[in-house]
Parts: sequence; structure tokens; C-alpha cells
Amino acid sequence: MDTSEILDLSLALAKQSEVPADTTINVPAKDVHQALFGIDVDPADLLLAKQKGYDLVIAHHPTGGSAVLEFPKVLSKHADILVRHGVPKAAALEAVRELQDEREPRAHAENYDHLPSVARLIGIGLMCIHNPCDEIGRRIMDETLKARLPPKPRVQDAIDVLQSMPEFRAAKTRIVQRMGKPENPLGSWAVHHGAGTNGGVPVARAAFDHGIDTVFYIHIDAGALRRLGEVYGREGAKNLVVTGHLASDSIGINVLVRELRGRGMRVHR
Ligand SMILES: [Fe+2]
Ligand SMILES: [Fe+2]
Repeated sequence: MDTSEILDLSLALAKQSEVPADTTINVPAKDVHQALFGIDVDPADLLLAKQKGYDLVIAHHPTGGSAVLEFPKVLSKHADILVRHGVPKAAALEAVRELQDEREPRAHAENYDHLPSVARLIGIGLMCIHNPCDEIGRRIMDETLKARLPPKPRVQDAIDVLQSMPEFRAAKTRIVQRMGKPENPLGSWAVHHGAGTNGGVPVARAAFDHGIDTVFYIHIDAGALRRLGEVYGREGAKNLVVTGHLASDSIGINVLVRELRGRGMRVHR
């Protein structure tokens, strides 16, 4: 397989027809026999991969080029998730606009060619597959919850369902409830994943203010959590469950890795 076939496979698995803005091929590779797949990749990993005889390094998080510079565009997928869960379109778009405003200066300032230039110098393929893997992961978390939640579920029931998935069982982090109470009714819920990064304050606020009782994020920073807690209470009726970054990212990555291996590629994670 070459890098564009790998990219196409990831899109097909994610049921996507366009390459998301946070996903790109930085250095194409033909005839890939051995690939090293990492959630984060740095220049030392590229050197290591070259020394160990890999043809290609696949990162999950954006590596550079358009995936870094255009990253804020992918945040618009938060609006799709909100609207699918009954949030009015205007409120969903406003949340996305706020998120993009917060993020755009950082993307603009990034050293966007650092990693790609190292890969070119070393002579190794480099690509990142971010949103397709997260979209696969989001769907699996969503479907697992829908299939296994008991009638009239509490928040703790949802945590138990997710915790039973292999990636969460294997992780050294636990799924944590950051707001609300485990005995609260789960109510209307949404997995806010597969949209660049967590929705921070704007997406959680749009969700909580428009009928969603339980928000699932895969990570959140302390500042956003503090601000949300001030508005909705740390132990109030609104629930925020944080599933864990690496375990959650692994769900979609593992699907892609299995498919690549099924096509004869040696992939080490
Ligand atoms: Fe991810
Ligand atoms: Fe991630």
C-alpha cells in the first residue's frame, strides 16, 4: 500500500468522503511494508523508525503542514454533533465560532514544517490520520452505549459500559466524572469526540443549555473545567464524563491498525 491508499482506507472506515482538515500526508511513501503508528510523533521517533527499517510513520495527532495550519476548521464538526442531539443550529455554530476564535491564533503560530522537514531530511514517509480515527472511535463509543445501557440509566451505568471496552480496560487511566453525580439520571447524552479536540466551555455550555444532561469528553483542561463548574456546579444536575485521552484515541486507531494488518502491512504501535 502507499500513503494515499492508507488515507483512503481510513476515510472509508470513517465513512467520510473528504479528507478532514487535520489529516494529511506530509511525506508520501510508496510500497509500505512496515509502518510505525504513534499517537504523538517527534523527530526522535522519526530517526528511530528509520534506524529500525520502517518505511512510514503514521501519527494520530497533527504532524504539520495543512493538518496544523487548517486544524481549526475541523472544530466545526462539534456543530454537527450538537445539532444531531437537538441543539439549535444557531447555538451550535456560535459555540464553534468561539472555539475557533480561541484556537486560530495558536494554529497560525505553529512551527508547521518542523516534523515534515525532519522526515524529508531523514528520508522516511510521514502522515497523520486524526479525525478519521476519532470519528471511528466516536461511533464505536456511541454504538456501545446505545447497545448496552440499561433502561433508565444513571451516569454510573454509562461509565460502567464504557469501562468494559478493551481500550478502557487496558488503560492505566480511569474514566472520571468531573461534574455531576454518578447517581444522576444519564438523561439526554452525547459523545463529543471526533471534532479536532474537546469542545471546551462553548460546546459543553451549548449542550447543557439546550437539553443535553450528560456530556462525554475524552479530555478537558483545568481552566475550562473550573469555568463550567462555576456555572453548572461540580455536583449539580449536569454531568461531564471524561473518558481519558489515550484510551479514547486508541479505539479508532486500533480499528485502522487491524485493517492495515489485514492487508498484509506490518504495523507496530
Ligand atoms: Fe484523537
Ligand atoms: Fe488526541
